Amino acid sequence: VDLNPAIRVVLLPKDTNKYGTIFGGIILSYIDLAGTVEASKVTSQRLVTIAMKEVVFKAPVHVEDVVSFYTSLIKIGRTSITVHVDVEVLRDDGGQGQEVQVTEADVTYVCINDNGKPTPVIRRKT
Ligand SMILES: CC(C)(COP(=O)(O)OP(=O)(O)OC[C@H]1O[C@@H](n2cnc3c(N)ncnc32)[C@H](O)[C@@H]1OP(=O)(O)O)[C@@H](O)C(=O)NCCC(=O)NCCS
Repeated sequence: VDLNPAIRVVLLPKDTNKYGTIFGGIILSYIDLAGTVEASKVTSQRLVTIAMKEVVFKAPVHVEDVVSFYTSLIKIGRTSITVHVDVEVLRDDGGQGQEVQVTEADVTYVCINDNGKPTPVIRRKT
């Protein structure tokens, strides 16, 4: 896993549910964006999300938490790219901060052509 997250954010009260913790859909949206950052390193083609497997929320996220989305490339298929996204929240345990896993997911993107149909992945030149 890259030590630098694809995205790092602090979430605000506008992102909370009625219990005052962060709404899961907000985290899903960032997972999707973080995965796109990683998949876009592979190709400059148009990418759409086909699947997210499997998102289980293990710990709550609170307002003002620093949330990091770490990504790693899992697989480049014929027309698809799959990325693992690891979501960690920084907890202040009396001085030393510690990252706790909130959730993780495998996200698959499909390269599409101008007609919205799957098209083979063309890798960027490195
Ligand atoms: C993405 C889309 C063009 C794919 O078309 P399709 O005909 O269903 O795709 P295919 O069956 O040819 O599969 C395309 C790739 O996706 C993979 N795939 C299909 N279903 C999958 C699933 N449930 N999980 C993971 N990968 C999947 C296939 O294995 C294939 O990858 P490969 O070529 O690397 O082997 C079409 O499903 C679509 O437009 N979906 C909506 C995308 C979108 O708008 N996302 C945002 C949601 S708001």
